Amino acid sequence: MRIIEAKDYKELSKQAANIIAAQIVMKPDCVLGLATGSSPIGTYDQLVEKYENGDLDFSKVSSVNLDEYRGLDHENDQSYYYFMHEHLFDRVNIDAENTNVPDGTNPDAEAECKRYEELIRSYGGVDLQLLGLGHNGHIGFNEPAPIFEKETHCVDLTESTIEANKRFFASADDVPKQAYTMGIGTIMRAKKILVVVSGADKADIVAKAFFGDVTPEVPASILQMHPDVTIVGDAEALAKIPR
Ligand code: GLP
Repeated sequence: MRIIEAKDYKELSKQAANIIAAQIVMKPDCVLGLATGSSPIGTYDQLVEKYENGDLDFSKVSSVNLDEYRGLDHENDQSYYYFMHEHLFDRVNIDAENTNVPDGTNPDAEAECKRYEELIRSYGGVDLQLLGLGHNGHIGFNEPAPIFEKETHCVDLTESTIEANKRFFASADDVPKQAYTMGIGTIMRAKKILVVVSGADKADIVAKAFFGDVTPEVPASILQMHPDVTIVGDAEALAKIPR
C-alpha cells in the first residue's frame, strides 16, 4: 500500500489525476474503473484540464463505473450516469459507447448485475480502479455486512449512507433505498486501485480501514490484501493513520 499525502484537496486531485493520466499514456486502450461522490470531482476536473491542454487522449479508453442507484434514469441529475457525463464524459474525447454505468432502470436486479459482471469480464478486467471511501468504510456501495459480497449485486443502502448522500437530494426520503454495485471481488480483481480521501470527517475511517482488522464490517479493509493500492489523501484525512 502506497500512501501519498497532499497538502489540500487541489493537490490531492492533481496527484490522483497524474496517476490516472500515467495509466492512459502507458496503455491508451486501458479500462478505467470510475467512481462518483464528491471526492473524485477534483480529479476529474484535473483530467479535463490535461485533455484541454492536449496532454491526454481518451479516444481509446473504456470505462466501467462502480455503482448506480436502483430506479434512477439517465435524465435524473442524481443518477451516477448523469454525474459521470457532467463531470467527465461530456468534457473529454472518450467515446460514449465505451463508457458503462450499471443500468439503474433495469428492474430485474439479478439480470442487470449478471450483465454488468460479464461486461467487465468481457473487457478483460479493469486496469485502474478509482475509489472513494464512505464514512462507514463502504467502497462502491458495498456496505458493512457479515460477508464480502463477491460480484456485482443489488444492495439495501444503510441509514448512514442515505443520511450522507441526502445532501444531494431534496430530502432523505428522495434518496433511493437500493443500488447496484460492483462486488468486492469485482473491485479486487482490478490490476491497480487508487483511493482518494479528503477531509477531517474521513480521518477515523481511513485509519480503521487501512490499519485496522480486515473485516467485511469495514468493506474497504479488504484493500489491505490487494497488491497494488495507492491512497491519495489530504493532510486532514490522513491525520489519524499510524506513523
Ligand atoms: C457514495 C458512492 C461511493 C463514494 C461515497 C463517498 O456512497 N457510492 O462510491 O465513495 O459516496 O462519497 P464522498 O466522496 O462524497 O464522501
